[in-house]
Amino acid sequence: MRTSVAIYPGSFDPVTNGHLDLIARGEQMFDSLIVAVLRNTEKAPLFTVAERVEMLREVTKQWPGVEIDIFDGLLVDYARKRGAGVILRGIRAVSDYEYELQMALMNRKLEPRLETVFMLPGEPYSYLSSKLVREIAQLGGPLGGLVPDVVEQRLRAKIT
Ligand code: PNS
Repeated sequence: MRTSVAIYPGSFDPVTNGHLDLIARGEQMFDSLIVAVLRNTEKAPLFTVAERVEMLREVTKQWPGVEIDIFDGLLVDYARKRGAGVILRGIRAVSDYEYELQMALMNRKLEPRLETVFMLPGEPYSYLSSKLVREIAQLGGPLGGLVPDVVEQRLRAKIT
């Protein structure tokens, strides 16, 4: 499938500087990059989907080729609907690899024309995750350099 539309799917609860680093790399590589927030019914998120989308729109507004959207159901179905040929995912460390491999191969089984492309975030973000960011925020720790300012403000407001 020849296309330069890529989907970067995830929970983004909330978007971190690591996600942003990957979006910046993906934006350079693809004509169009759709950052797709999963409407996840299983997890108990800190931010609502609407809040996560709002923050993502705010921090990606400098890139006209980046769109923020919401999806539910199978990622491959959403990719088909959006005419995307690539799923973009980040791998921070070896520990990410097993889960990512499993997802990529299952997605390939479900839709062989859809290719998963892995990118490495910058080294300063290799230990960063939304889960740790939420924990640090909940325990009153410093968030400088981990999330964009607007996200830090939203975290502080949510937790106090
Ligand atoms: O940021 P996350 O939570 O690691 O993202 C996981 C995500 C959203 C990429 C994954 O859970 C997903 O694609 N869910 C959609 C449902 C689906 O297609 N499941 C089969 C994947 S093999």
